[in-house]
Amino acid sequence: MYNLLKGKRGIIFGALNSNSIAWKVAERAHQEGATFTLTNTALALRLGELNALSESTNSKIIEADVTVMEDLHNLFTQTQEILGGKIDFILHSVGMSPNIRKNRPYMEMDYNFYQKTLDISALSLHKVLHTAYKLDALNDEASVIALTYIAAQRTFPDYTDMAEAKAMLESIVRSSGFHLGNHKKVRVNSISQSPTATTAGNGVSGFDAFIDYAEQMSPLGNASADECADYCVVMFSDLTKKVTMQNLFHDGGFSNTGVSKTVMNKFGEL
Ligand SMILES: NC(=O)c1ccc[n+]([C@@H]2O[C@H](COP(=O)([O-])OP(=O)(O)OC[C@H]3O[C@@H](n4cnc5c(N)ncnc54)[C@H](O)[C@@H]3O)[C@@H](O)[C@H]2O)c1
Repeated sequence: MYNLLKGKRGIIFGALNSNSIAWKVAERAHQEGATFTLTNTALALRLGELNALSESTNSKIIEADVTVMEDLHNLFTQTQEILGGKIDFILHSVGMSPNIRKNRPYMEMDYNFYQKTLDISALSLHKVLHTAYKLDALNDEASVIALTYIAAQRTFPDYTDMAEAKAMLESIVRSSGFHLGNHKKVRVNSISQSPTATTAGNGVSGFDAFIDYAEQMSPLGNASADECADYCVVMFSDLTKKVTMQNLFHDGGFSNTGVSKTVMNKFGEL
């Protein structure tokens, strides 16, 4: 390891189990010398798996619903007390759509669910950064990463309201990157990750076939959760101080591929 995050303090949202992208980021950040708190909802904490990560990374767990301002206030206050200073990095690895959970097709979405999707998966990033700003909890040159998906730019059949949530999330990344950059040289970026077998990913119907499709479309193949963690570590490190307001595709080339030979061959030999 390279000690890329030595002395840096962070908050990692969204580790649920060992498949979670945030789980892998926590493990890598720990290896690189960071200290951080882990946070998730009461429900996620009751599932009980986070304790193992807390032990292996020597980090405290603080319960917070990312949509509740009081929870976020408490999270930032407690984190600074526990870690002994302001925050250098934040991973927003949170997403949930009740419409997807209930298998509602795009043209039959429930609007209360829809608003919940936007609140949890997009507006929450604004709430997190608003709280950090009000409490002056971020260090100069802090780095914020939110995880997103290419459905923000292109339509996929069963991603329903999460597509709009990701488009909004990426817009909040740009706007907050502008304002926090001017304020304290804080950088804010999103990483647009390949389809990855996690609890959230598997909730999208036909996900296995979709992973195979993306694998065969991408010149480098799908990016794994571990590889995403590597990328997050680089983005939290001092090696990327001038990268901000970007949506960074981490997808093995999927986003710029029209069609691959492997996929074309399924329709007849080239
Ligand atoms: N899995 C994929 O294919 C894929 C691809 C691209 C982007 N992403 C994004 O990566 C991020 C992490 O997802 P994952 O794939 O690791 O799945 P995951 O299910 O492991 O993580 C999602 C997390 O969001 C948390 N969460 C849900 N509602 C919350 C709330 N109200 N407050 C706080 N936390 C809440 C869950 O408890 C869970 O820990 C999400 O933003 C997801 O959209 C995933």
